[in-house]
Amino acid sequence: MSKDSLSVTDNRTGRTYELPIEQGTIRAMDLRGIKVDDSDFGLMTYDPAFTNTASCKSRITFIDGDQGILNYRGYPIEQLAERGNYLETAYLILNGELPTKAQYDDWVYNVTHHTMVHENIKELMGGFRYDAHPMGMLVSTVGALSTFYPEAKHIHDPDNRRKQIFRLIAKMPTLAAFTYRHSVGLPYAYPDNELSYSGNFLQMMFRVTEVKYRVNPVLERALEVLFILHADHEQNCSTSAMRGVGSSEVDPYSATAAAVAALYGPLHGGANEAVLRMLSEIGSKQRVPQFIKAVKESGGDVRLMGFGHRVYKNYDPRAKIIKIMADRVFEVTARNPYLDIALELERIALEDEYFVKRKLYPNVDFYSGLIYQAMGFPVDLFPVLFAIPRTSGWLAQWQEMLEDKDQRIARPRQIYLGSGRRDYVPLEARG
Ligand code: CMC
Repeated sequence: MSKDSLSVTDNRTGRTYELPIEQGTIRAMDLRGIKVDDSDFGLMTYDPAFTNTASCKSRITFIDGDQGILNYRGYPIEQLAERGNYLETAYLILNGELPTKAQYDDWVYNVTHHTMVHENIKELMGGFRYDAHPMGMLVSTVGALSTFYPEAKHIHDPDNRRKQIFRLIAKMPTLAAFTYRHSVGLPYAYPDNELSYSGNFLQMMFRVTEVKYRVNPVLERALEVLFILHADHEQNCSTSAMRGVGSSEVDPYSATAAAVAALYGPLHGGANEAVLRMLSEIGSKQRVPQFIKAVKESGGDVRLMGFGHRVYKNYDPRAKIIKIMADRVFEVTARNPYLDIALELERIALEDEYFVKRKLYPNVDFYSGLIYQAMGFPVDLFPVLFAIPRTSGWLAQWQEMLEDKDQRIARPRQIYLGSGRRDYVPLEARG
């Protein structure tokens, strides 16, 4: 008997099966042959929220949640954040290797020259109420891009895909900045090709009447690092949405709109926004113990936002980098007054048995909002700031899915617990 196998005895029948183990995994379909009799459908696994199911094989991002390790294509996140920039990282995530100088120049040129959006997008934006949430606007406008680029539906053509990837990565900051300008009633600022990816984004956000916007290099670098940290995170909720929706072979704009929608939720990318609202509600350092008590007594209803993670059962390595970077940013901006509340929350939570027992540590969203706020971004724009860099991860995962021969349209099974067959009762005869 091969060592790399699992022997399973079905006690209903007394039969034993040998299932191959590959890469620490058994194939769920191998269970289908385990049946009570010929009419039996066969055994399935039940895994709500996919807590123990690998939905794909991937070569993009590696996470060791127990040790707090995050690598993109093998490169530790700490090295990329220290020495790389966002577009270089996006290239790495999408292509598997860091670019050569020529590849990098070509990549940056292409992304830079696809930043403009069709003027009709502005009109579309103009249709939203003044207080529309920017993530709602982003979901709609990213989805709308599919109508401007109908050729994007040819998803099996690699050249065509490449072009849509340039467009999506390039236009995301433009759309993001437009959502903000709409909400404050400022005219939209067009891209400036002489600036870096993050510098141009700052310019489109904050330029008012200056002929040439002067980007603060510390803030530009901080944003660049935040973008690197958010670029990919393997099979999270929004990436699974991207892959799941993309598996129907829809165009990448529609699939990305679905991913943005998934990111919007407060348990995912909306958490950075929720953290700031939580800090504002707590209001002062003195009220932290009271809040922690409320979290513990709520039975899971009140959460310490920015804490906990499905995969990390240790300090999120991204949170560590952000916490260090916050000091550099606060030297330029004013110190965010909520920082003291956040530090106190972390201090108490890391000592408290409730959090220790459940291995709840600060995640990427705990400190990022403090930096965004200090830089002048409004709170409801925070999830949008997550969506901009995550677009490269979504697209890399989407492309990997399309090229993976194992993949087909995503279609989970269910355990049906509803009513058995019954006959229709006319309205007048119902009790
Ligand atoms: N505050 C208080 N209790 C918590 C928290 C929290 N933030 N997170 C988890 N728990 C408790 C939860 O109540 C449960 O307790 P019990 O075993 O007594 O029922 C236990 O810890 C396990 O929680 P879970 O909900 O089963 O864990 P999960 O893996 O399904 O959820 C999570 C992961 C990130 C959704 C969750 O930790 C959470 O809601 N955190 C707050 C929201 C947040 O910060 N999200 C950002 C995640 S990182 C960036 C991203 O992915 O977008």
